[in-house]
Amino acid sequence: MCGIVAAAAQRDVAPLLIAGLKALEYRGYDSAGLAVLQDGEIHRVRAKGKVREMEAEYLAAPFPGGTGIAHTRWATHGVPNEANAHPHVAGRVAIVHNGIIENYASLREELKARGHVFTSETDTEVIAALIEERIAGGLGLREAVLAVVHGLEGAYAIAVVSRDEPGRVVGARRGAPLLVGVGIGEHFLGSDAQALIQVTNRMIYLDEGDVVEITRERAQVFGLDGRPVERAVRESELSADAVERGEYRHYMQKEIFEQPRAVADTLESRLGANGVLPNVFGVGGDELLAKVRGVHIIACGTSYHAGMVAKYWIEEYAHLPVAVEVASEYRYREAVVPEGTLFVAISQSGETADTLAAMRESRRRGYLGTLAICNVPESSVVREADLKLMTRAGPEIGVASTKAFTTQLAALALLSLQLARQRGLDDARYADLCAQLQALPGAIERALALEPQIVELAEHFIPRHHALFLGRGAQFPVALEGSLKLKEISYIHAEAYPAGELKHGPLALVDEDMPVVAVAPNGPLLDKLKSNLQEVRARGGELIVFADNAAPMDGNAARGHLLRIDAGGEFIAPAVFTVPLQLLAYHVAVLRGTDVDQPRNLAKSVTVE
Ligand code: AGP
Repeated sequence: MCGIVAAAAQRDVAPLLIAGLKALEYRGYDSAGLAVLQDGEIHRVRAKGKVREMEAEYLAAPFPGGTGIAHTRWATHGVPNEANAHPHVAGRVAIVHNGIIENYASLREELKARGHVFTSETDTEVIAALIEERIAGGLGLREAVLAVVHGLEGAYAIAVVSRDEPGRVVGARRGAPLLVGVGIGEHFLGSDAQALIQVTNRMIYLDEGDVVEITRERAQVFGLDGRPVERAVRESELSADAVERGEYRHYMQKEIFEQPRAVADTLESRLGANGVLPNVFGVGGDELLAKVRGVHIIACGTSYHAGMVAKYWIEEYAHLPVAVEVASEYRYREAVVPEGTLFVAISQSGETADTLAAMRESRRRGYLGTLAICNVPESSVVREADLKLMTRAGPEIGVASTKAFTTQLAALALLSLQLARQRGLDDARYADLCAQLQALPGAIERALALEPQIVELAEHFIPRHHALFLGRGAQFPVALEGSLKLKEISYIHAEAYPAGELKHGPLALVDEDMPVVAVAPNGPLLDKLKSNLQEVRARGGELIVFADNAAPMDGNAARGHLLRIDAGGEFIAPAVFTVPLQLLAYHVAVLRGTDVDQPRNLAKSVTVE
């Protein structure tokens, strides 16, 4: 993970770099630093903790300079402290790095044998030392970077400056994102468009293996063979406002409340009065989908949970077999791929290392084609897929995914409907499902109105250490998502089970200290779920039940806390029931005083394995 910003400009760049880092802090926030070239010297400031800690140190002793690099870190090699914070300096070179160098240990030993003394535990300092060696051997900065990256195994995005070449920053990427911001008389590098949107909306998205050199006057891109390559300048549609927190206390709260709009945007111009519109998955998409005989869905975390919901939908409505797997497992095993299988990658960021690697691996496994469901148009996952469906959630800053999930569900619902229609789903059922999907933004809006009741419920969780989440059918992934939200931002240990599985082991955990959260839509499995809830009651567990308005709940089944929801139909119920679980996790975290938007040990975009 980690975030990178760099600049070559006429003006002093430190304030721009700090502003860029703040926009990138979602990528890592355990230490930060920046280095600026001025008068043949490297001026550097680094601090453990968030960007604001480093900013305070910089403001206490600011330094001018128009060329600089900066970094916010998510620790991989070495604990979070100042010595391990970037930029790392070796002789005349300073570098910031995102990614993991897998052969760093052997490179480090070789460098030590040649007399290098290391001041950090990081893999990054190895790159700095190697570049410094090459420059000492007579190469220019760009040539030195090119020579060194050939010997690196693993993933990197780097930005490097040299005292000997004022006004120049060299960047390179492989397996981690990096883009160029094109300003007027100034150029920038950044891990994503959010870091640069305050200074320019004109971006060059670098390809795998690219090396780039920026100065005030120009940005020039080279391939790994050192030859210049052309990369288009694109206008980013991101607006600076979209990354503001507005009136909300946290980004997560803002993003939860943005869901009706985000879902409506995801459906717009894709779902018409008569159903899914032609080719919403890209040119030739409908023809390809018509040939599909099975689906493999690959993703991580929240995106994986969205894929699990889609399995229920596609199997029920399109009668196609669906396998869903976490990307970190899929990439390292020999999955059997029957003829005609579609590979679907789901990712908010489009840069998740495991998902990207799984997608690349899928290329040699003989799929019919690949479809990316993603929120970032220029991301690697989108660029490498045959078909794409963008989720249009807008920037998601909170580390805990919220609107990304519900918009992924909206996109997967479109896919399910398209596959089902092509396989003969009858008119009446198709029309009903489409109508439910059209009504989803309104149903989410109504679920959001439960917030005051959920704040009261959240009080019960303040002293708890554990919680169980239960769901059946397509609500099981919703229970998984609810438990993931609670654990990642409130640090309460939470697990989710299909409700029928409780009696096969987890029931042993249930006592008066164990809150059990259940999702109860109205449907064929409701009576089964009610029996499972009775099992919890009988053991003294505290039940918190989110039930559909239409779901008959007798007093016994609902004893504990019962919140009624208008789920808007069985098809869209998973998306609707997710909302109160997000709100519950959010308010529990607020009451427990955790860092809601940047929970400990995590980062938003997981670009390392
Ligand atoms: C969940 O709240 C997390 N943010 C995490 O599980 C996330 O969904 C996962 O890392 C996958 O990210 P992606 O969607 O960007 O690929």
